[in-house]
Amino acid sequence: MTDADKTPLLAHRSGPLRGRVRVPGDKSISHRALILGALAVGETRISGLLEGEDVIYTGKAMRALGAKVERTGEGLWQVQGVGVGGLQAPAEVLDFGNSGTGCRLVLGAVAGCPIAATFDGDASLRRRPMQRILDPLSLMGARALRCAEGGRLPITLEGARDPLPILYRTPVPSAQIKSAVLLAGLAAPGETTVIETEASRDHTERLLRHFGAEVTVVPEGPHGRRITLKGEPELRPAPIVVPADPSSAAFPMVAALLVPGSELVVTEVMTNPLRTGLITTLHEMGARIETLNVRGDVGEAMADFRVQASTLHGVDVPAARAPSMIDEYPILAVAAACAKGRTVMRGLAELRVKESDRLTGTAEGLAACGVKVAVEGDDLIVDGDGRPPRGGATIATRLDHRMAMAFLVLGLAAREPARIDDARPIATSFPDFLPLMAKLGARFDEAR
Ligand code: S3P
Repeated sequence: MTDADKTPLLAHRSGPLRGRVRVPGDKSISHRALILGALAVGETRISGLLEGEDVIYTGKAMRALGAKVERTGEGLWQVQGVGVGGLQAPAEVLDFGNSGTGCRLVLGAVAGCPIAATFDGDASLRRRPMQRILDPLSLMGARALRCAEGGRLPITLEGARDPLPILYRTPVPSAQIKSAVLLAGLAAPGETTVIETEASRDHTERLLRHFGAEVTVVPEGPHGRRITLKGEPELRPAPIVVPADPSSAAFPMVAALLVPGSELVVTEVMTNPLRTGLITTLHEMGARIETLNVRGDVGEAMADFRVQASTLHGVDVPAARAPSMIDEYPILAVAAACAKGRTVMRGLAELRVKESDRLTGTAEGLAACGVKVAVEGDDLIVDGDGRPPRGGATIATRLDHRMAMAFLVLGLAAREPARIDDARPIATSFPDFLPLMAKLGARFDEAR
């Protein structure tokens, strides 16, 4: 993406948002479905796959590593896997675009195979920390033959000929680190164990079990887990139905809370408790969100949410909740800016190493829109006066889809339009965000 091609966009104060929508498939599960499908023996059928740029890059990578990956219809994909340890050396560099999840999980999968592969990505991904993945993978016998300073991309990884099972404590709560270790551990004999002091999203564990692997999970301390995988399973394909992504649903849901007179239903949203910290927090703020039709499907529960415009008040969001809503802080901060009183969001160090530095970017964006905001240590503090913020600023999205969508939502409620400098990153996770929001009544226009 060159600067010259940037696509600025304006969001205007809108009338009530109304309707019934389904947002695209969950991004975390979509990546994992393609990767585990490639490591299974036989054909995995996936429905509801997110066809955003991030996931498409993962599909291309699994193809380059020897799996057959085919699209058979809208959201319908088939993967013919090569079996655990069976990935083949790719002829080309594996490009993951903007996607930390795709890159880090595939690093784990390659670490368990006797091949070398080069991983790369866009300017945002090249800035993100990868040493946190290389550390455990090197304990398992993989080697970084080449990497940029600080263990960053581009990285050439040589997988282990005889991978070792390890017991690993993740240094930060991260599903990506945990998943990389478990995926490498598939090819190791014996038990690979990951200990996390704060539970992170568990889609890898659930999908591994869905494919017949033996995974045991026991509590560790007050908030943590100890996950053990028995190595060298034969992964048996089973159909995967991808529910709607709660991290994408967050944007229309918060928009409906903030725009007076709104009422909408967002359907089939995944309700895995390790992903629903935002809903808990919004309820505490006084949001009118009703949970309808809770149902379970292949390993993940889902529900419909009815959301009505609400008067919100500030709350204290504990650090222990961060892993269950780590991608939702920019949009929560927008909600906090429209709430009455102080919202304190604690323990957000990890936000600094997402697609952009979301702690600084959110604070700067809100301040530019006239909101009283501060960063103290790793905490974000927003003071709202219960009225819509002024808006009227241009926000730099810095190759970060969630920053782009969060500030467009702010513009729908603000007194003056909010402008983002580049809407293109939205396509990484939510390609139809703009038409979907427009259908509900959101007013956007191109702002060259
Ligand atoms: C993800 C894990 C989270 C999250 C990311 C998706 C995943 O990152 O921010 O968007 O699918 O495993 P960390 O595990 O690094 O916290």
